[in-house]
Amino acid sequence: MTIPAHLRKNPAKALAALLAVSVLAACGTGKTVKEPAAGQAAAAAPAAVLAPVPPMGFNTWNKFGCNVDEKLIRETADAMVETGMLDAGYKYLVIDDCWQVERGADGRIIADPQRFPAGMKALADYVHGKGLLFGIYSDIGPKTCAGRPGAAGFFDIDAATYAEWGVDYIKVDWCHCDDLDAPTEYAKFRDALRRSGRPIVLSICEWGRNDPWKWAKGVGQLWRTTADIGDSWDSVVWIVGANSRHADAAGPGGWNDPDMLEVGNGGMTFDEYKTHFSLWAIMAAPLMAGNDLRAMTEETRSILLNKEVIAVDQDPLGAQGRVVIERGYGGQVWMKPLADGSRAVAFVNYSKGDLDQYVRWAQIGLPPGPAKVRDLWAGKDLGIHTDMGRHYNERFQVKVPSHGVVMVRIWPEPARPGN
Ligand code: GLA
Repeated sequence: MTIPAHLRKNPAKALAALLAVSVLAACGTGKTVKEPAAGQAAAAAPAAVLAPVPPMGFNTWNKFGCNVDEKLIRETADAMVETGMLDAGYKYLVIDDCWQVERGADGRIIADPQRFPAGMKALADYVHGKGLLFGIYSDIGPKTCAGRPGAAGFFDIDAATYAEWGVDYIKVDWCHCDDLDAPTEYAKFRDALRRSGRPIVLSICEWGRNDPWKWAKGVGQLWRTTADIGDSWDSVVWIVGANSRHADAAGPGGWNDPDMLEVGNGGMTFDEYKTHFSLWAIMAAPLMAGNDLRAMTEETRSILLNKEVIAVDQDPLGAQGRVVIERGYGGQVWMKPLADGSRAVAFVNYSKGDLDQYVRWAQIGLPPGPAKVRDLWAGKDLGIHTDMGRHYNERFQVKVPSHGVVMVRIWPEPARPGN
C-alpha cells in the first residue's frame, strides 16, 4: 500500500485516517462499505487521507505563468524550507501550465526538454528530498488553457506516468471541454489515478461552471468555485462573495477552492493582503501561495507565516466559516467554529474609512458569560470579555481599517456556578 509521505512518518495517524475514511464513506452513502484489504486501501477511498484539512503549498501560475523551469522549482523548494513555509504547513510544490510540450509515439507526455532537462522524475526526487510533495497540472480536454497537450484520450497513460514520476497532486483544468460532462470526466480521471496505485490529490479546476459543490466531493479533494483570481482587491471581494455560497459542501476530504493566493504579488496593500489571507483561512480554503517565495518582504512573510491564522484554516473540524453579520455600510463579521469549541471571528471592512465593528456572543453561537479573546494578527491576548446577553454595551467591539480585517479567536471560559 502506498501512503502519502506526510503520513508515512506517522503510521498511527495514517491508520486512523484510513479507518476514518471507511466510516465516512459508510455514513455518506448509506451503503455498507467493506473494509478495504491492505493492497486496495489507496484505491478504495483515499479522499479523507489525502486532504483531511485544506491542502497547503505553492503553485507557479499566479506569479510566473508559463515561465516555469526546473531551476525555479528547485530554488522554490529550497526557499520553502529556508523561509519556514514547509514548517508552517505548505507542503505541495505544484507546477502549473506549460511544463509539457508534446506526446511521444507511445502516447507518453513529454516535459519541455529545454526547461526541464533533468526530467520530471529527477525534479520530483529533489522536491521529495526536501520533505515536500510534488504537484503538476493537466487538462481534461485535448489541450491545456495555454495550448499544451491535455489529457483527453490519455487518462490512464498519464496517471501511470505521473505515478512513476512521484507526483502527489494534480490540478486538472477544463479548457476545450465545452461538450463534455464534468462529473463524468473528472470521475474517469479519478479512476485513472486510482488505477495508478499512487495516492494523488486531484484538484478540480472547472471554475465552478458545473456546480462542483454538488458532485465533486469523493471525486477530487478540492474544486475551484470561481473564475481565476487577479491580484486586486476587487477580485478578492468578488471571489469571496461567490465562494461563501457553498459552505455546506466543504469538510474533511473535500474543499471549496476560491483559487490560489495573491499575497506578496504587489497589487494590493498590506491590509488588503491580510484580509485576503484571513478570509481564505476562515473559509477553510486551500492555501496555495502564488508569489515568489525566493524574494519575500517581511510583510509578505508575516502574512503567509502567521501560524495562528493558518491554524484556523487547518482546524480539524473542517467547517467553512460563514458571514454571521452583514452590515449595510460595508462591514461583515465572519465566524468559523473550531474543534476545541472556540470560534474564529473576522471583522472585515469593505468601506473607504475606518469602521467600528462589534459582535454579541449569541451571534457566534457562544453561551452568555466570560470568554477569552486573542487577536491573531497582533498575536496578543485581549483578556476576558464578558457578554451576559443582556446589555447593549456588553458587545465585543473593534476598530477595523478600510479594506482591513481584525481577526480574533474566542474561547468560552468554563461555566461557573451562578453564571
Ligand atoms: C486556467 C486556470 C488557472 C491556470 C491557467 C493555466 O485559467 O483556471 O488557474 O491554471 O488555466 O493556463
